[in-house]
Amino acid sequence: MYRILSKATLTPVTTEYVIEAPEIARKAQAGQFVIVRVTEHGERIPLTIADNDIEAGTITIVAQEIGATTQRMKQLSPGDSLASFTGPLGRPSEMENYGNVVLVGGGLGIAAIHPICRSLRAAGNHVIAIIGARTGELLFWEERMRAVTDELIVVTDDGSYGRKALTTIPLKELCEEREIARVWGVGPAIMMKFVALTTKPYGVKTIVSLNSVMVDGTGMCGACRVSVGGRTFFACVDGPEFDAHQVDWDLLFSRQRYYLEEEKRALELFQKEQIKSGQEDAR
Ligand SMILES: Cc1cc2nc3c(=O)[nH]c(=O)nc-3n(C[C@H](O)[C@H](O)[C@H](O)COP(=O)(O)OP(=O)(O)OC[C@H]3O[C@@H](n4cnc5c(N)ncnc54)[C@H](O)[C@@H]3O)c2cc1C
Ligand code: FES
Repeated sequence: MYRILSKATLTPVTTEYVIEAPEIARKAQAGQFVIVRVTEHGERIPLTIADNDIEAGTITIVAQEIGATTQRMKQLSPGDSLASFTGPLGRPSEMENYGNVVLVGGGLGIAAIHPICRSLRAAGNHVIAIIGARTGELLFWEERMRAVTDELIVVTDDGSYGRKALTTIPLKELCEEREIARVWGVGPAIMMKFVALTTKPYGVKTIVSLNSVMVDGTGMCGACRVSVGGRTFFACVDGPEFDAHQVDWDLLFSRQRYYLEEEKRALELFQKEQIKSGQEDAR
Protein backbone atom coordinates (compact mmCIF):
# COMPACT_ATOMS: atom_id res chain seq x y z
CA MET A 1 0.00 0.00 0.00
CA TYR A 2 1.23 3.48 -0.83
CA ARG A 3 0.26 5.75 2.04
CA ILE A 4 -0.19 9.50 1.65
CA LEU A 5 1.96 10.99 4.41
CA SER A 6 1.10 14.62 3.72
CA LYS A 7 -0.92 16.74 1.35
CA ALA A 8 -0.62 20.48 0.71
CA THR A 9 -2.61 22.86 -1.46
CA LEU A 10 -0.15 24.77 -3.65
CA THR A 11 -2.61 26.76 -5.79
CA PRO A 12 -6.42 26.68 -6.20
CA VAL A 13 -5.95 23.84 -8.73
CA THR A 14 -2.72 22.14 -7.68
CA THR A 15 -1.94 19.78 -4.79
CA GLU A 16 1.35 18.36 -3.51
CA TYR A 17 1.37 14.83 -2.06
CA VAL A 18 4.18 13.07 -0.20
CA ILE A 19 3.83 9.31 -0.65
CA GLU A 20 5.48 6.53 1.31
CA ALA A 21 7.31 4.52 -1.38
CA PRO A 22 10.84 3.57 -0.18
CA GLU A 23 11.75 1.35 -3.15
CA ILE A 24 10.82 4.00 -5.71
CA ALA A 25 12.50 6.75 -3.66
CA ARG A 26 15.75 4.76 -3.71
CA LYS A 27 15.76 4.28 -7.49
CA ALA A 28 14.18 7.51 -8.77
CA GLN A 29 16.21 9.79 -11.03
CA ALA A 30 15.47 13.22 -12.47
CA GLY A 31 13.09 13.13 -15.44
CA GLN A 32 11.24 9.96 -14.39
CA PHE A 33 7.58 9.49 -13.52
CA VAL A 34 5.18 7.14 -11.72
CA ILE A 35 1.83 5.71 -12.79
CA VAL A 36 -0.83 6.13 -10.14
CA ARG A 37 -4.15 4.40 -9.61
CA VAL A 38 -6.28 6.18 -7.03
CA THR A 39 -8.91 3.42 -6.66
CA GLU A 40 -8.82 -0.32 -7.36
CA HIS A 41 -10.74 -0.08 -10.64
CA GLY A 42 -9.70 3.46 -11.50
CA GLU A 43 -7.76 4.82 -14.48
CA ARG A 44 -3.95 4.80 -14.43
CA ILE A 45 -2.43 8.28 -14.71
CA PRO A 46 1.23 9.32 -15.12
CA LEU A 47 2.64 11.92 -12.70
CA THR A 48 6.21 13.22 -12.64
CA ILE A 49 8.47 12.48 -9.68
CA ALA A 50 8.92 16.02 -8.38
CA ASP A 51 11.15 15.02 -5.47
CA ASN A 52 12.46 11.93 -3.69
CA ASP A 53 13.87 11.49 -0.21
CA ILE A 54 15.85 8.26 0.10
CA GLU A 55 16.23 8.47 3.89
CA ALA A 56 12.55 9.16 4.55
CA GLY A 57 11.54 6.69 1.79
CA THR A 58 9.20 9.18 0.16
CA ILE A 59 8.23 10.49 -3.27
CA THR A 60 6.67 13.92 -3.83
CA ILE A 61 4.18 14.39 -6.65
CA VAL A 62 2.24 17.48 -7.69
CA ALA A 63 -1.11 17.04 -9.42
CA GLN A 64 -3.32 19.54 -11.16
CA GLU A 65 -7.03 18.80 -10.74
CA ILE A 66 -8.24 18.78 -14.32
CA GLY A 67 -10.41 15.68 -14.57
CA ALA A 68 -12.07 12.78 -12.73
CA THR A 69 -8.94 10.97 -11.47
CA THR A 70 -7.03 14.02 -10.23
CA GLN A 71 -10.20 15.37 -8.55
CA ARG A 72 -10.81 11.98 -6.89
CA MET A 73 -7.21 12.03 -5.67
CA LYS A 74 -7.72 15.50 -4.17
CA GLN A 75 -10.37 14.00 -1.87
CA LEU A 76 -7.87 11.65 -0.22
CA SER A 77 -6.33 12.64 3.12
CA PRO A 78 -3.03 11.91 4.85
CA GLY A 79 -3.24 8.32 6.13
CA ASP A 80 -5.24 7.15 3.07
CA SER A 81 -3.53 4.92 0.51
CA LEU A 82 -3.35 4.91 -3.27
CA ALA A 83 -4.45 1.67 -4.96
CA SER A 84 -1.19 1.50 -6.89
CA PHE A 85 1.93 3.57 -7.43
CA THR A 86 4.28 2.15 -10.09
CA GLY A 87 7.74 3.40 -10.92
CA PRO A 88 10.17 4.86 -11.44
CA LEU A 89 9.26 4.80 -15.15
CA GLY A 90 10.79 6.39 -18.23
CA ARG A 91 14.38 7.25 -19.03
CA PRO A 92 16.16 9.62 -16.66
CA SER A 93 17.32 13.01 -17.96
CA GLU A 94 20.83 12.91 -19.48
CA MET A 95 23.19 14.39 -16.90
CA GLU A 96 26.52 15.92 -17.84
CA ASN A 97 28.44 19.10 -17.13
CA TYR A 98 27.21 21.09 -20.15
CA GLY A 99 27.99 24.61 -18.85
CA ASN A 100 25.15 27.16 -18.80
CA VAL A 101 21.79 25.39 -18.91
CA VAL A 102 18.30 26.92 -18.94
CA LEU A 103 15.22 25.09 -17.67
CA VAL A 104 11.79 26.43 -18.53
CA GLY A 105 8.90 25.27 -16.33
CA GLY A 106 5.40 26.38 -17.24
CA GLY A 107 2.60 25.75 -14.69
CA LEU A 108 2.92 22.14 -13.54
CA GLY A 109 6.23 21.97 -15.38
CA ILE A 110 7.73 23.81 -12.38
CA ALA A 111 7.46 20.61 -10.31
CA ALA A 112 8.89 18.55 -13.18
CA ILE A 113 12.02 20.68 -13.67
CA HIS A 114 12.78 20.79 -9.91
CA PRO A 115 14.69 17.46 -9.72
CA ILE A 116 16.35 18.09 -13.12
CA CYS A 117 17.70 21.46 -11.88
CA ARG A 118 19.01 19.83 -8.71
CA SER A 119 20.81 17.03 -10.59
CA LEU A 120 22.23 19.39 -13.23
CA ARG A 121 23.60 21.61 -10.48
CA ALA A 122 25.15 18.62 -8.73
CA ALA A 123 26.79 17.75 -12.08
CA GLY A 124 28.51 21.17 -12.07
CA ASN A 125 26.28 23.16 -14.46
CA HIS A 126 25.34 26.83 -14.03
CA VAL A 127 21.57 26.36 -13.73
CA ILE A 128 19.18 29.12 -14.80
CA ALA A 129 15.45 28.41 -14.42
CA ILE A 130 12.53 30.36 -15.85
CA ILE A 131 9.26 29.55 -14.10
CA GLY A 132 5.95 30.94 -15.27
CA ALA A 133 2.20 30.72 -15.02
CA ARG A 134 -0.82 32.55 -16.40
CA THR A 135 -1.25 34.46 -13.15
CA GLY A 136 0.52 34.79 -9.78
CA GLU A 137 -1.91 32.60 -7.88
CA LEU A 138 -0.97 29.62 -10.10
CA LEU A 139 2.74 29.84 -9.29
CA PHE A 140 4.26 27.56 -6.65
CA TRP A 141 7.62 26.35 -5.25
CA GLU A 142 9.46 29.64 -5.87
CA GLU A 143 11.68 29.18 -2.78
CA ARG A 144 12.19 25.50 -3.47
CA MET A 145 13.31 26.36 -7.02
CA ARG A 146 15.68 29.07 -5.74
CA ALA A 147 17.39 26.40 -3.62
CA VAL A 148 18.24 24.21 -6.66
CA THR A 149 19.23 26.94 -9.17
CA ASP A 150 21.93 29.58 -9.63
CA GLU A 151 19.51 32.08 -11.17
CA LEU A 152 15.72 32.08 -11.10
CA ILE A 153 13.50 34.19 -13.37
CA VAL A 154 9.81 34.37 -12.46
CA VAL A 155 7.23 35.47 -15.04
CA THR A 156 3.45 35.63 -15.32
CA ASP A 157 1.36 36.20 -18.45
CA ASP A 158 -0.67 38.96 -16.76
CA GLY A 159 2.18 40.54 -14.75
CA SER A 160 0.41 39.91 -11.41
CA TYR A 161 3.66 38.45 -10.01
CA GLY A 162 7.27 38.66 -11.24
CA ARG A 163 7.96 39.97 -14.72
CA LYS A 164 5.03 40.32 -17.16
CA ALA A 165 6.15 38.02 -19.99
CA LEU A 166 5.72 34.60 -21.52
CA THR A 167 8.52 32.18 -20.53
CA THR A 168 9.97 32.36 -24.05
CA ILE A 169 10.82 36.10 -23.76
CA PRO A 170 13.59 35.74 -21.11
CA LEU A 171 14.62 32.50 -22.85
CA LYS A 172 15.23 34.40 -26.10
CA GLU A 173 17.17 37.10 -24.21
CA LEU A 174 19.39 34.49 -22.58
CA CYS A 175 20.08 32.84 -25.97
CA GLU A 176 21.07 36.26 -27.36
CA GLU A 177 23.22 37.37 -24.43
CA ARG A 178 24.97 34.22 -23.20
CA GLU A 179 26.52 30.98 -24.33
CA ILE A 180 23.74 28.50 -23.52
CA ALA A 181 24.71 24.83 -23.86
CA ARG A 182 21.32 23.16 -23.40
CA VAL A 183 17.69 24.02 -22.69
CA TRP A 184 14.90 21.95 -21.13
CA GLY A 185 11.25 22.90 -21.53
CA VAL A 186 8.50 21.23 -19.50
CA GLY A 187 4.89 22.38 -19.36
CA PRO A 188 1.83 22.57 -21.61
CA ALA A 189 2.54 21.14 -25.08
CA ILE A 190 1.98 24.53 -26.71
CA MET A 191 4.59 26.15 -24.45
CA MET A 192 7.09 23.37 -25.24
CA LYS A 193 6.53 23.90 -28.96
CA PHE A 194 7.28 27.62 -28.58
CA VAL A 195 10.38 26.88 -26.46
CA ALA A 196 11.56 24.73 -29.38
CA LEU A 197 10.84 27.50 -31.91
CA THR A 198 12.65 30.06 -29.72
CA THR A 199 15.91 28.10 -29.36
CA LYS A 200 16.05 26.68 -32.91
CA PRO A 201 17.58 29.78 -34.60
CA TYR A 202 20.38 29.76 -31.99
CA GLY A 203 21.14 26.07 -32.55
CA VAL A 204 20.82 25.29 -28.82
CA LYS A 205 20.01 21.63 -28.13
CA THR A 206 16.58 21.59 -26.48
CA ILE A 207 14.87 18.80 -24.58
CA VAL A 208 11.13 18.56 -23.86
CA SER A 209 9.19 16.09 -21.71
CA LEU A 210 6.26 14.88 -23.80
CA ASN A 211 2.98 14.59 -21.91
CA SER A 212 1.25 12.18 -24.28
CA VAL A 213 -1.64 10.06 -23.00
CA MET A 214 -0.29 6.95 -21.24
CA VAL A 215 -2.04 3.80 -20.08
CA ASP A 216 0.32 0.98 -19.04
CA GLY A 217 3.58 2.97 -19.01
CA THR A 218 5.57 -0.09 -20.11
CA GLY A 219 5.59 0.15 -23.92
CA MET A 220 2.82 -2.45 -24.39
CA CYS A 221 -0.38 -0.53 -25.21
CA GLY A 222 0.87 2.00 -27.77
CA ALA A 223 -1.23 4.85 -26.33
CA CYS A 224 1.73 7.19 -25.91
CA ARG A 225 2.99 6.95 -29.52
CA VAL A 226 4.89 10.06 -30.64
CA SER A 227 6.81 10.91 -33.78
CA VAL A 228 10.30 12.41 -33.37
CA GLY A 229 12.64 12.98 -36.30
CA GLY A 230 10.25 11.01 -38.53
CA ARG A 231 10.48 7.89 -36.33
CA THR A 232 7.85 6.45 -34.01
CA PHE A 233 8.63 6.20 -30.31
CA PHE A 234 6.67 5.32 -27.17
CA ALA A 235 7.03 8.23 -24.75
CA CYS A 236 6.74 5.96 -21.68
CA VAL A 237 9.80 3.81 -22.43
CA ASP A 238 11.78 5.78 -25.04
CA GLY A 239 11.12 9.13 -23.30
CA PRO A 240 9.42 11.09 -21.89
CA GLU A 241 12.31 13.42 -22.89
CA PHE A 242 12.98 14.01 -26.59
CA ASP A 243 14.81 16.46 -28.85
CA ALA A 244 12.36 19.38 -29.09
CA HIS A 245 13.48 20.37 -32.60
CA GLN A 246 12.52 16.95 -33.98
CA VAL A 247 9.05 16.49 -32.39
CA ASP A 248 5.96 16.25 -34.63
CA TRP A 249 3.91 18.71 -32.54
CA ASP A 250 0.72 18.43 -34.64
CA LEU A 251 0.55 14.67 -34.00
CA LEU A 252 1.10 15.23 -30.25
CA PHE A 253 -1.71 17.84 -30.11
CA SER A 254 -4.16 15.62 -32.00
CA ARG A 255 -3.39 12.50 -29.91
CA GLN A 256 -3.79 14.48 -26.65
CA ARG A 257 -7.39 15.22 -27.74
CA TYR A 258 -8.09 11.57 -28.66
CA TYR A 259 -10.05 10.65 -25.49
CA LEU A 260 -11.75 14.03 -24.85
CA GLU A 261 -15.31 12.58 -24.99
CA GLU A 262 -14.46 9.71 -22.60
CA GLU A 263 -12.68 12.13 -20.23
CA LYS A 264 -15.70 14.46 -20.25
CA ARG A 265 -18.04 11.54 -19.49
CA ALA A 266 -15.78 10.31 -16.64
CA LEU A 267 -15.79 13.79 -15.09
CA GLU A 268 -19.60 14.09 -15.37
CA LEU A 269 -20.00 10.66 -13.76
CA PHE A 270 -17.63 11.61 -10.94
CA GLN A 271 -19.50 14.89 -10.33
CA LYS A 272 -22.86 13.03 -10.27
CA GLU A 273 -21.44 10.55 -7.72
CA GLN A 274 -20.32 13.51 -5.58
CA ILE A 275 -23.79 15.12 -5.65
CA LYS A 276 -25.44 11.76 -4.82
CA SER A 277 -23.12 11.07 -1.86
CA GLY A 278 -23.68 14.67 -0.64
CA GLN A 279 -27.46 14.10 -0.73
CA GLU A 280 -27.11 10.78 1.12
CA ASP A 281 -24.94 12.44 3.80
CA ALA A 282 -27.59 15.17 4.23
CA ARG A 283 -30.33 12.58 4.93
C1 LIG B 1 5.09 11.61 -18.38
C2 LIG B 1 3.93 12.44 -17.86
C3 LIG B 1 4.08 13.12 -16.67
C4 LIG B 1 3.02 13.87 -16.16
N1 LIG B 1 3.21 14.52 -14.97
C5 LIG B 1 2.19 15.19 -14.42
C6 LIG B 1 2.33 15.80 -13.14
O1 LIG B 1 3.39 15.77 -12.52
N2 LIG B 1 1.24 16.42 -12.61
C7 LIG B 1 0.04 16.47 -13.27
O2 LIG B 1 -0.92 17.03 -12.72
N3 LIG B 1 -0.11 15.93 -14.48
C8 LIG B 1 0.92 15.27 -15.07
N4 LIG B 1 0.74 14.66 -16.28
C9 LIG B 1 -0.58 14.73 -16.91
C10 LIG B 1 -1.54 13.83 -16.14
O3 LIG B 1 -1.22 12.48 -16.37
C11 LIG B 1 -3.00 14.13 -16.56
O4 LIG B 1 -3.30 15.45 -16.18
C12 LIG B 1 -3.97 13.18 -15.88
O5 LIG B 1 -3.87 11.91 -16.48
C13 LIG B 1 -5.38 13.71 -15.96
O6 LIG B 1 -6.29 12.73 -15.53
P1 LIG B 1 -7.76 13.12 -15.11
O7 LIG B 1 -8.58 11.89 -15.06
O8 LIG B 1 -7.75 13.96 -13.89
O9 LIG B 1 -8.25 14.07 -16.28
P2 LIG B 1 -8.93 13.67 -17.67
O10 LIG B 1 -10.19 14.41 -17.80
O11 LIG B 1 -8.92 12.18 -17.84
O12 LIG B 1 -7.89 14.26 -18.70
C14 LIG B 1 -7.60 15.64 -18.84
C15 LIG B 1 -6.40 15.76 -19.78
O13 LIG B 1 -5.25 15.12 -19.16
C16 LIG B 1 -4.51 14.37 -20.14
N5 LIG B 1 -4.58 12.94 -19.76
C17 LIG B 1 -5.69 12.24 -19.42
N6 LIG B 1 -5.40 10.96 -19.15
C18 LIG B 1 -4.08 10.85 -19.35
C19 LIG B 1 -3.19 9.77 -19.23
N7 LIG B 1 -3.57 8.55 -18.88
N8 LIG B 1 -1.89 10.00 -19.53
C20 LIG B 1 -1.46 11.23 -19.85
N9 LIG B 1 -2.26 12.30 -19.98
C21 LIG B 1 -3.55 12.11 -19.72
C22 LIG B 1 -5.15 14.64 -21.47
O14 LIG B 1 -4.48 15.73 -22.07
C23 LIG B 1 -6.55 15.04 -21.11
O15 LIG B 1 -7.17 15.81 -22.07
C24 LIG B 1 1.79 13.93 -16.85
C25 LIG B 1 1.65 13.25 -18.06
C26 LIG B 1 2.71 12.52 -18.57
C27 LIG B 1 2.56 11.78 -19.85
S1 FES C 1 1.73 4.01 -22.16
FE1 FES C 1 1.38 2.17 -23.22
S2 FES C 1 2.99 2.11 -24.65
FE2 FES C 1 3.40 3.89 -23.49
